[in-house]
Amino acid sequence: MMLPMDTRPIGVFDSGLGGLTVVRQLLQLLPGEDIVYFGDTGRVPYGTRSAETIEKYARQDCRLLLGHDVKLIIAACGTVSSVAPQVLSHLAVPAMGVVEPAAQAAMDATRSGRIGILGTAATIRSASFQRYMLEARPDLRIFSQACPLFVPLVEAGWIQRDNDATIAVARRYLQPLIQQQVDTVILGCTHFPLLSPILSDILGENVVLIDSGAACASRCARELERYGLLNHSKKMGECRFYVSDCPDDFTHVAQMFLGREVKEDIHQVDLEFLASRD
Ligand code: DGL
Repeated sequence: MMLPMDTRPIGVFDSGLGGLTVVRQLLQLLPGEDIVYFGDTGRVPYGTRSAETIEKYARQDCRLLLGHDVKLIIAACGTVSSVAPQVLSHLAVPAMGVVEPAAQAAMDATRSGRIGILGTAATIRSASFQRYMLEARPDLRIFSQACPLFVPLVEAGWIQRDNDATIAVARRYLQPLIQQQVDTVILGCTHFPLLSPILSDILGENVVLIDSGAACASRCARELERYGLLNHSKKMGECRFYVSDCPDDFTHVAQMFLGREVKEDIHQVDLEFLASRD
């Protein structure tokens, strides 16, 4: 019997490079899928902006991906998923963000019921992860911490385990969660998995880190299967990368996020064109 299948690409977007941590997981889980990635590098960071601006940018990002005939869209951005989830409903294709998959993974992982959340300022302000978890489990104790300096540190590539500046910043952010004795911490921003070694060193090995991108990639694999949208053709998938600022630096830093060399061409999208289609 022929399995239902769909050879269109998966569309993934983020404000910058962070969403590539989701692509990295997708490449492992679904190696036969084509992926179109858009990093809005000309407008990163989103996490310090107003809800209206984040919503407007997210709509434009989705429209760009729909123009590439994608079969499913992933908002690989904790900020968009938290502040503008409405953008993901009523699209012509299924769409998902990182909040629910990561919150679910944290609820599955915690033993003490004490969970920490790290995110951008906008994500933490939205209380998206708390709302989801407390609705399901009102007994949980949840503690959140905005980490606005993490995104620029990661975009600059300051992620080495012995980077003193990043360690000092991380210590300040993590102190309140350590005091609250959390046993599980959600990395609610897709940039943060690159800081996992540093965060683990500070939190200790008994604290479970939930990678929101990895949780989202697993959910994506299940959804594609559920909708009969998997690509069963026997070839290796291909990636196409789009950014909204000069692509030169992208290649270098993107390798850290993807965990492999970036040999593909990086295409630049004109921001004015993107904005003019509102
Ligand atoms: N990667 C994005 C997130 O997951 C955020 C970075 C930003 O643009 O502030 O929230």
